[in-house]
Amino acid sequence: MTGTSHEELFGAAPEGLWAAPGRVNLIGEHTDYNEGFVMPLALPHTTRALVSRRRDRTLRLRSRNAGGGTVTVPLDGLAPGAVEGWAAYPAGVAWALLEDGHEIGGADISFDSDVPTGAGLSSSAALEVVTALALSDLGGLDLAPETVARLSQRAENDFVGMPCGILDQMASACCTAGHVLYLDTRDLTRRQVPFAMALEGMRLLVVDTRVKHAHADGAYARRRAECEAGAAALGVPYLRDVPFEKLDAALARLDRTVQEAVRRRVRHVVTEDRRVERVIELLDAGRARDIGPVLTEGHASLRDDFEVSSPELDLVVEASVAAGALGARMTGGGFGGSAVVLVDDAAAEAVGAAVLEAFDAAGHGAPRVFEAIPSAGAQRLPL
Ligand code: GLA
Repeated sequence: MTGTSHEELFGAAPEGLWAAPGRVNLIGEHTDYNEGFVMPLALPHTTRALVSRRRDRTLRLRSRNAGGGTVTVPLDGLAPGAVEGWAAYPAGVAWALLEDGHEIGGADISFDSDVPTGAGLSSSAALEVVTALALSDLGGLDLAPETVARLSQRAENDFVGMPCGILDQMASACCTAGHVLYLDTRDLTRRQVPFAMALEGMRLLVVDTRVKHAHADGAYARRRAECEAGAAALGVPYLRDVPFEKLDAALARLDRTVQEAVRRRVRHVVTEDRRVERVIELLDAGRARDIGPVLTEGHASLRDDFEVSSPELDLVVEASVAAGALGARMTGGGFGGSAVVLVDDAAAEAVGAAVLEAFDAAGHGAPRVFEAIPSAGAQRLPL
C-alpha cells in the first residue's frame, strides 16, 4: 500500500503505518473463555493501517478490501449499535479506548489486508489490534500489548456483539517471529516458545476449506453458555479449575445433574488444557515431531465432544493423516474455516495433493493450502 492512495483518499499524507497479523492456533481450542491455555502463532498475513491525524473528533475509515466508500464516525457520543459492517471493528476499538478513559483524537485511517476473511484466521482481531495500536501510538498512550488485546476484545464483545475470548487478539498483539505463544488466558502470563527451529524438517500447513457455515456465531455463544453451565454444576468459577486428574470424578458427578452435551463440553475443555501442556512438554524436550498425534487427538475431541467441526474440516484431517501427515486438526472457532496440518518436508506435497483430491472426490470446492510461517505480532512499520 502506498502513501499516495491514502493522500488521494483523505487529502493528507499518512503519519504512520501499522500492521497486525492473522493467526492460527496450534492447540488449545475453546479453552480461552474457560480461562485455560492456548498456543497460537501469527501468520505472515497482516492487516495494515495508514493513519493521519485530524483536528476534529471524527474518524474516517476506508478499507480497500471491503470497498464501499468512506465510513465517518463521530467520536463524541459513540455507542454500540452506531456503526455496522466491517467499520464496527475499528469504531468499536475507538469506543473501547474512550470507555477505558484514554484520550484519543480524530483520525483518517485506510486499511488494507491480506488476511483471508471468514477463514477462521482472525481477520477481525487483526483489524481491531492494528487500530488499537495505531491510535495508542498516535495518541502517545504507550499501551502494553496485552492492553491493546484486551481493548480489542472488548470492542468485539461489547460493540460488535461477538462473545469471543482473548486468544485471537493476544495472538495478533503479542506473537513474535519464529515462536508459538504459550499463553495462560487466566492472567495473560505467557512465554514465547521457539517453533521455527523446532519445525526443522517439518512444515505446518494451513488448509482453508473456504467454507464458513451459517449461524457459527450463535453456535459459539451456545458452546460458551454450555461451558458456563458445566462450571456452575461443578461449583468452580471456570472449567480451567477442573484438574485433569479429577476429570473422571467430575464427569461422574455431572452424570446426574446436566445434559449429556454439557458433560462432553466439559470433557473437551479439560482434556484440551491437558493437550496444551503435553505439546509444551514435547516442544520443550525438543520432540516437535511427537506433537502430531496430540493435534489429531484434539481434532477428535472438537469433532465428537465439542461438536464444532465440519465435514470439510474432518476431511482435511482424515485425508492428510491417511497420506502421511504427522497430525492435523481444525483451528479457531470451527463450523468451517481452516485446519492445520503438520507434515515432514518430504511428505508435504503428497499430503497437499491428497487433500485436494479428497475434496474433489467429495464434491467440495478446492481448499487453499499454504504454509504457516510463525511471524511477528502487531507493530509500527516504516512508511
Ligand atoms: C474464536 C474466538 C476465540 C477462541 C476460538 C476457539 O477464534 O474468537 O476467542 O474462543 O474461537 O478456540
